[in-house]
Parts: sequence; structure tokens; C-alpha cells
Amino acid sequence: MALIEINNLNFAYDEERPTLKNISLSIEAGKYVALIGHNGSGKSTLAKIIAGLFKKVEGDIKIFDLPLQKENLVKIRSQLGIVFQNPDNQFVASSVKEDIAFGLENRAIPHDEMDPIINEVAEEVGMEKFLDAAPENLSGGQKQRVAIAGTLAMKPRLLLLDEATSMLDPRGKKEILNLIRKMRKDNPELTIVSITHDVEEAALADEVIVLNDGEIVLHGTPEEVFAHRDILAQVRLDAPFFDSLVVALKAEGVAVPDDIKDIKALEDYLCR
Ligand SMILES: Nc1ncnc2c1ncn2[C@@H]1O[C@H](COP(=O)(O)OP(=O)(O)O)[C@@H](O)[C@H]1O
Ligand SMILES: [Mg+2]
Repeated sequence: MALIEINNLNFAYDEERPTLKNISLSIEAGKYVALIGHNGSGKSTLAKIIAGLFKKVEGDIKIFDLPLQKENLVKIRSQLGIVFQNPDNQFVASSVKEDIAFGLENRAIPHDEMDPIINEVAEEVGMEKFLDAAPENLSGGQKQRVAIAGTLAMKPRLLLLDEATSMLDPRGKKEILNLIRKMRKDNPELTIVSITHDVEEAALADEVIVLNDGEIVLHGTPEEVFAHRDILAQVRLDAPFFDSLVVALKAEGVAVPDDIKDIKALEDYLCR
């Protein structure tokens, strides 16, 4: 079954200027999908639409096989979790434990049922030793892991990560990528859609979707998508590939001057 099924989605914040144009995509349950694209391409808007946060969405959209309509919004939202970019904006309580408990309280889960759930999800994200810790004493990666634990406590079928690693240092990023691997192993049914600028992360995904100016320009396996260097350059996503190319060239003993910043300049330099 397709967990997300979108046909001909159109959306505009302002009627003069469409934000998402004729989006069609299908995501199967259990997949890990990376959504990439330049700033302003509409990634966050698409995630928010999937999360049922906007009205006035045109198109045929089904999430969990439920048409995205007012009467289904509560049911749809209750089965998904979102984690955003800024680790410091994710906390609502003064300890890790209370923070994870917050969502459960909102769902009126009885108190004696909460502890086992909290312990289980804290362990899943490797934060079981920090249940009494204050959020301000945690690293960025730990904060994001707690935020993910808070959503896992709700037993979501879909986890939306909107640049969840982009404010983290390399170590924090690695923690989240390892956690994604672990969650997929422990819960093969969980579907993950992750908006990211990180090529390393996109390369781990089952599928990569490239958005540009509100349109899908590529959708396929990482290998298929990354083979389209021409299109990636057109949508200004070649920078990460350029970086990895420079690293590879340097490893081969080719000196690349620091003032060469893109593939075109690199080509000119190498063919000079
Ligand atoms: N709340 C909003 N009101 C009006 N325009 C918005 C709003 N949020 C985003 N936009 C515009 O919609 C476009 C897509 O934004 P967004 O979905 O945030 O892109 P991305 O996440 O890919 O950077 C941008 O042009 C942005 O300025
Ligand atoms: Mg965004």
C-alpha cells in the first residue's frame, strides 16, 4: 500500500505565485525518502501539507489511505510525527522525561502506562541515561534524539524530519543518521521522509526526490538521481558533488586550488 499518494497537488500561499506545482508522488510504507532541493523550493511546504497543516490544497491526496480532508485531519496527524531544524525549539518541558511525557499526556494516556513507553523510546534513541537531564545541558544531537523519542512515543507510521540535522555539528549529524538506521531496523514498517541538505544522508535513503521551484525534477534511487549531474547543476545542487569530487581528486594527488568553487571552474582548471 502507498502510505502517501499524491496526484496533481497544487498549492499557493499567495494566489499570484504558486508554491507547489502539479506534484505527483507515491511513497510506499516502510520507505526512507530524502527530499532535497534548494532553499525556497517548497520542501517544508510539502511536508506541512502531508502533515495536514494547510487548507486550500488542490489535488488528489491520500495519507495512510485517507483522503486529505477536514474530517480525516485528526486521524492523519495522530499517526505522524515531525521534527524540525532547531534543536532548541523542540522542548516543551524542563526534563527529558517530562518532555517525552508531554505528548502522551495530550493523548490522555494513563500515567501508569507512560513510564514503560517513555523508557522504551528513550532506549530506542539511546537517551535512557538522560531522563532526568535538563534540555539545556544536552548537545544538539541529543536534543534532536529526544525530539524524535517524543514522536516515537506516539507510535507514528510516518516520521517527517525537516532538516533535523542541519543545525548539528558533524557528531550530532552522525548520531541522527545512526538513529535513522536503527529505527529502520527495529521498526521496518516506519516510513521516514527526511528533508536534508546532506548528501551523505540522501545517499542512505531508498529514494531521493528533488524539488526545484515547486516542481519535482527527479525522483528515484540515490544512484539514479545522483547520475543526473546536469539536472542537479541546473537546480544548483551540484555543490556537494563538487565537494566530494575535490576530496577524491586530492586523494589521487591532484592539487585543486582553493579558489575553484564549482564544477565548471574545476573543468576549466583541469583542462587548461
Ligand atoms: N507562511 C508562508 N507564507 C507565504 N509564503 C511562504 C510561507 N512559507 C513559505 N513561503 C514561501 O514558499 C516558498 C517555499 O518555501 P518552503 O516550503 O519553506 O521552501 P524550502 O523548505 O524548500 O526552503 C518560498 O518562496 C517561501 O518564501
Ligand atoms: Mg524548509
